[in-house]
Amino acid sequence: MAGLLEGKRLLVTGIITEQSIAFSVAKLAQEQGAQVVLTGFGRLSLVERIAKRLPQEAPVIELDVTNQEHLDGLADKVREHADGLDGVLHSIGFAPASCLGGDFLAAPWEDVATALHVSTFSFKSLAVACLPLMGPGGSVVGLDFDATKAWPVYDWMGVAKAGLESTSRYLARELGPRGIRVNLVAAGPLRTMAAKSIPGFAVFEDSWAKTAPLGWDLHDQAAAAKACCALMSDWFPATTGEIVHVDGGYHAVGSSQ
Ligand SMILES: NC(=O)c1ccc[n+]([C@@H]2O[C@H](COP(=O)([O-])OP(=O)(O)OC[C@H]3O[C@@H](n4cnc5c(N)ncnc54)[C@H](O)[C@@H]3O)[C@@H](O)[C@H]2O)c1
Repeated sequence: MAGLLEGKRLLVTGIITEQSIAFSVAKLAQEQGAQVVLTGFGRLSLVERIAKRLPQEAPVIELDVTNQEHLDGLADKVREHADGLDGVLHSIGFAPASCLGGDFLAAPWEDVATALHVSTFSFKSLAVACLPLMGPGGSVVGLDFDATKAWPVYDWMGVAKAGLESTSRYLARELGPRGIRVNLVAAGPLRTMAAKSIPGFAVFEDSWAKTAPLGWDLHDQAAAAKACCALMSDWFPATTGEIVHVDGGYHAVGSSQ
């Protein structure tokens, strides 16, 4: 049987370690037959080293999603490796320390603005930068953390994710007429670099496994990766503006915590 993503050309952002959700997506996508091009932020030689650990080494393009020159040049850089894109993964998030960890009232606007620029507005920026390479059947997927609640310590990142959810729906509305789908995967807590940088993130970790009907493994990025790959495949042809929860069912039940 051919792989789920046979012949698909994907752009995957957000790899910084082997634990990155994006690494699991790139690995699974290649195993399912996709051609993968990566983007890296800042520490490019590190991303290139991690890229060598994929089943097939993938090229890495430099992309800071807040850098308009990088965004403007992205399509041409991708064309050096692929003649178009069928899927784009946005797996990017960042908030300055003041925005996380429990002092919600103290974070200054400059820091909040950075969090929103990198984690929210960039979903639109990345999609627009890739548009010249995409056509009907294309799929844009982003990584979300359920933003329907005010969580402890997640603070302004939670606000950024609420904005991401809304941005995703507006993008779905804008890109639908071009036959391009836009969806989010809302993952439960996973031990990645981004998560480890949130002081007090253990609060989620402890309650999640106890409360989620299916249980939850903090080290299993594969479940979220499978959903991302499925959304970039042809198997969700009429789904857009959607949030697929890959959280062991946590969002669906009341918590005793
Ligand atoms: N780990 C979790 O518990 C969890 C849960 C739900 C959603 N998510 C989301 O998954 C996504 C990926 O995070 P992760 O957990 O794999 O952590 P990660 O630290 O491995 O990945 C975050 C990525 O964002 C990139 N990045 C930061 N600033 C950037 C910029 N200006 N331009 C381009 N890239 C930039 C980093 O280089 C890194 O590769 C994020 O959106 C995160 O919010 C994570």
